[in-house]
Amino acid sequence: MLAPAVINQCMSMSDVQVVHDAEALAVAGARLFIEASRGRDRFAVALSGGTTPKRLYQLLAEQSSAIDWTKMHFFWSDERHVPPDHPDSNYHMAHEALLSKVPVPSENIHRIHAEFPDPTEAASDYEATLSNFFALGPGELPHFDLILLGLGPDAHTASIFPGSLEAINTDRLVLANWIEKLNTHRLTMTMPVINAAKVVVFLVSGAEKAEALKAVIDGPHDLLKYPAQAVAPTEGSLKWLVDEAASSLIR
Ligand code: 6PG
Repeated sequence: MLAPAVINQCMSMSDVQVVHDAEALAVAGARLFIEASRGRDRFAVALSGGTTPKRLYQLLAEQSSAIDWTKMHFFWSDERHVPPDHPDSNYHMAHEALLSKVPVPSENIHRIHAEFPDPTEAASDYEATLSNFFALGPGELPHFDLILLGLGPDAHTASIFPGSLEAINTDRLVLANWIEKLNTHRLTMTMPVINAAKVVVFLVSGAEKAEALKAVIDGPHDLLKYPAQAVAPTEGSLKWLVDEAASSLIR
């Protein structure tokens, strides 16, 4: 666990790119995605959910010829506890926006089996998926080539919400978190997995994220209150892609 001073140093060292609006964010995100995947024999990416990345995924589908889809492997940084065809499913959103439109082999799509009635079973199942794909030994972490993250108005990221450090200080790879305010479980990659990635990119858009972004980047160090502050890649890089509305309160 990084000391606060080091985390703040990481935050100050992280790269914040401000773009005009949501469309410019998607364009910049798609460009970054394509650049990051270039020249790789295998490119393992964890997609974020919610609404922000949908346009980015649509743009990747529109630029399909720029990508060798046989080398792409898709994972999810988190998932709702719903079946894959549910409108709330992060897999469903990515499937509709991208995966159903490009020639990615089905075996390269590694979704979280959030349809399992027992969310802890879904979490353990995904840990096995990660362990098998990355050929992990005991205690080893997967090194994703790219992890995309969103930021909630409450400064949550993935499905690591304020009020609990369980998914931050853990040796687990994936957890089933009970989210009281949502009255549901969420499946999430843990912070050690996020921080083991080669490249982590936050996509943050909209005025409703301005307070959270300010708190995470400029605010006091408080992982319980602002879990996204714990994103500090151990050896990888951290990039914030934000639009003007979301960044209106940060220096
Ligand atoms: C989810 C996401 C979550 C999301 C943020 C931002 O499952 O909802 O993983 O962490 O990225 O809540 O969501 P929006 O992009 O919808 O604002």
